[in-house]
Amino acid sequence: MIQGAPLGARFERCTFDNFEVSNENREAYEACRRLAEKGGAGVLIMGKNGLGKTHLLVALMKEYDRRTSLPSMNRREDGSGSVRVPPVTELLRVAATETDEDVGVGEPTLSPDEIERSTHIEYWPLLDLASELRSEITRGYQEVSRRCRECDLLVLDDFGAERVTDFVLAELERIVDWRYRTMRPSAIATNLDIARITMKYGQRALSRWAASCELVTVLGEDRRASMEPS
Ligand SMILES: Nc1ncnc2c1ncn2[C@@H]1O[C@H](COP(=O)(O)OP(=O)(O)OP(=O)(O)O)[C@@H](O)[C@H]1O
Ligand SMILES: [Mg+2]
Repeated sequence: MIQGAPLGARFERCTFDNFEVSNENREAYEACRRLAEKGGAGVLIMGKNGLGKTHLLVALMKEYDRRTSLPSMNRREDGSGSVRVPPVTELLRVAATETDEDVGVGEPTLSPDEIERSTHIEYWPLLDLASELRSEITRGYQEVSRRCRECDLLVLDDFGAERVTDFVLAELERIVDWRYRTMRPSAIATNLDIARITMKYGQRALSRWAASCELVTVLGEDRRASMEPS
């Protein structure tokens, strides 16, 4: 289940299959695929505008979600009953050993209704997250902050685009620190390079990301410049 900000029509169709891999983005593509397929370390993608960072984050979320979805075999017809949900790491391990041949022709397939989503993914462009965190605090609760700390996969897009205030900085630090301690993966995309990330968020945050994420850079030309407007 993907929660947070809507992906929007422009990115709904983004998958690993329609991402063109080149030498300039291969490292980021492979890091995202590894995280989607095997779990483990997160990924921090750095690069200029229009190089496919958001495309990769969306593909990663979809694949991670797909691989960790669960058939609701133990559920009773009235929807009651408990379903044993294996840990996400276990689901990813099983999925990693599956091949296309494992799915035989003619075998019954599961309809969307029969799928029980066991994974919780949060997707937030930083501008939206910062504004949501601010508005939550004025309303006196911190639901989004808690979801960002505790979800299975946290995906933060356009990191660095937000106006940094002490409040936003402190909240982000809390989220980063919590996820670092509990070894939950995050996938982050930013236009900033290492030096600017350190300047904006401090050595403390960078040190935690470096220890829990693959740091990858995408290069190349802005793809938007050569696209037909739509
Ligand atoms: N390697 C690629 N293969 C296929 N489509 C791509 C690729 N790279 C970028 N695109 C497409 O180009 C457009 C811009 O890419 P995207 O929005 O992911 O860039 P970005 O790196 O996130 O840019 P920004 O930093 O401005 O947010 C999207 O429509 C995306 O699907
Ligand atoms: Mg983007």
